Amino acid sequence: MKIAVIHGANLRLLGTREPEVYGTDTLDDVNRKLAVVASELGVQLETFQSNHEGEILDFVQEAAKRVDGFLINPGAFTHTSIALLDAFLGVQRPFVEVHLSNLARREAFRHHSYLSGAAVGVVYGFGVQSYLLGLRGLAARLGDS
Ligand code: DQA
Repeated sequence: MKIAVIHGANLRLLGTREPEVYGTDTLDDVNRKLAVVASELGVQLETFQSNHEGEILDFVQEAAKRVDGFLINPGAFTHTSIALLDAFLGVQRPFVEVHLSNLARREAFRHHSYLSGAAVGVVYGFGVQSYLLGLRGLAARLGDS
């Protein structure tokens, strides 16, 4: 089973970016923790980060040819990108949406996600654990199908 992990806008700043909101793990730390869970689950992972919406769309379309599903934290594109929703609808691969912070406790503009309605599931509020739980959920779903 192959899964692509996508980190969207500003997530390469993890570790130093608003640590009181996003924690102190760096993006490398997150990817390392994901790799540990992936090897436990027997999942092959590839990871990708971009601050550019179009690059993420290109990645989704290309990676869909070689992976079974996606784990994505779109960052702020969550709240703005109909194009990202359309990309996932277009490639017909299951995806799980994750966020470090608890969006429901934050500003109103973070309460809406264009992606959630098309996702297999959404995990938020658990810091890095959101990614790890999301990976487990996606792998379980892919294993069932
Ligand atoms: C985020 C939440 C988004 O609202 C924000 O724009 C991010 C990070 C999170 O992981 O909590 O960049 O996706």
